Amino acid sequence: MPAIGLGTFGSDHISADEVAKAVKGAIAAGYRHLDCASVYSNEHKIGPAIRETGVAGDELWITSKLWNDQHSRVLEACRKSLADLCLERLDMYLVHWPFPNFHPPGCSVESRSPDARPYIHEEFMKTWREMEKLVDLGLTRHIGTSNMTITKLRLLLRDARIKPAVNEMELHPHFQQPELFDFVCANGIEPIGYSPLGSPNRPERDRTADDTVDVEDPVIVAIAQRLGMHPAAVCIKWAVQRGQTPIPFSVKPRNYVANLECLKTAPLTDADMNAIAGIDKNCRLIKGQVFLWKDNQSWEDLWDLDGVIKT
Ligand SMILES: NC(=O)c1ccc[n+]([C@@H]2O[C@H](COP(=O)([O-])OP(=O)(O)OC[C@H]3O[C@@H](n4cnc5c(N)ncnc54)[C@H](OP(=O)(O)O)[C@@H]3O)[C@@H](O)[C@H]2O)c1
Repeated sequence: MPAIGLGTFGSDHISADEVAKAVKGAIAAGYRHLDCASVYSNEHKIGPAIRETGVAGDELWITSKLWNDQHSRVLEACRKSLADLCLERLDMYLVHWPFPNFHPPGCSVESRSPDARPYIHEEFMKTWREMEKLVDLGLTRHIGTSNMTITKLRLLLRDARIKPAVNEMELHPHFQQPELFDFVCANGIEPIGYSPLGSPNRPERDRTADDTVDVEDPVIVAIAQRLGMHPAAVCIKWAVQRGQTPIPFSVKPRNYVANLECLKTAPLTDADMNAIAGIDKNCRLIKGQVFLWKDNQSWEDLWDLDGVIKT
């Protein structure tokens, strides 16, 4: 898996055409890894854009994801993403969230689907068995998870025939998730880090008063100034050196090129890496409120903070 990928989630305000144009430009600039998902509603534009680059499918690493309302229609959902992306086979197919709870694109964080349910391991395993079949059928080379916790991964590792190859999780300097990071690495699961820059332009509905801003952190800014690069580049260099695969999103050529090019410069020093390790603020930005299943719940209930899966 290439060490950096291009994110493709336009956060409901960047059109599918704009994202597809960025994909084309990014591939021309040297990107070989795209992080896609059916719920981003742009795979049908990204597929033709990839094709127009003339870069062969086997030179690219393409991830797609099963959306929450498709947990019992895995084969159909995968085939739809393959058709939209103009591919015969994916490199990676992820279960996007471990909850089957649907929410429409652009809805408010208070929105709840009427049939929302907690994580039920037996149900998740039915979905996972279908994911395993996709590998058997040659529709994807690998399968993986996203937004999982140690508690849920332990159950999956116990019961899976094909273990997840990756776990895609929120990772940036202010949210380093050290225990989960160490757990996945120890279990041979590659960590992919989403929102690697701290998602500075995420929609208002995904912001809370306590959120912090990675690219304004004095430690990140000081390293960036010393190296003559943007703080975003420091976040990306830190991610790759730590051993996770960042998937920064950008539709601006200057930014997506800079995010790739920064990896060609000298690595951060041990002192830089230690300094960044010290600025973790446990600040989760993508809290997942829309996936809650009962009234009066807090988003923390999704994340098994005390090691127990809430029901
Ligand atoms: N598995 C999941 O549940 C999940 C959840 C969230 C995200 N993701 C994936 O992770 C990807 C990235 O996450 P994200 O989009 O939330 O956040 P992000 O990559 O941390 O931040 C993206 C924002 O940073 C700006 N940016 C990018 N490069 C920059 C640079 N060099 N200098 C200044 N600004 C820069 C971009 O704006 P410009 O366009 O203006 O450059 C964009 O708005 C998504 O696109 C998606 O593929 C997955």
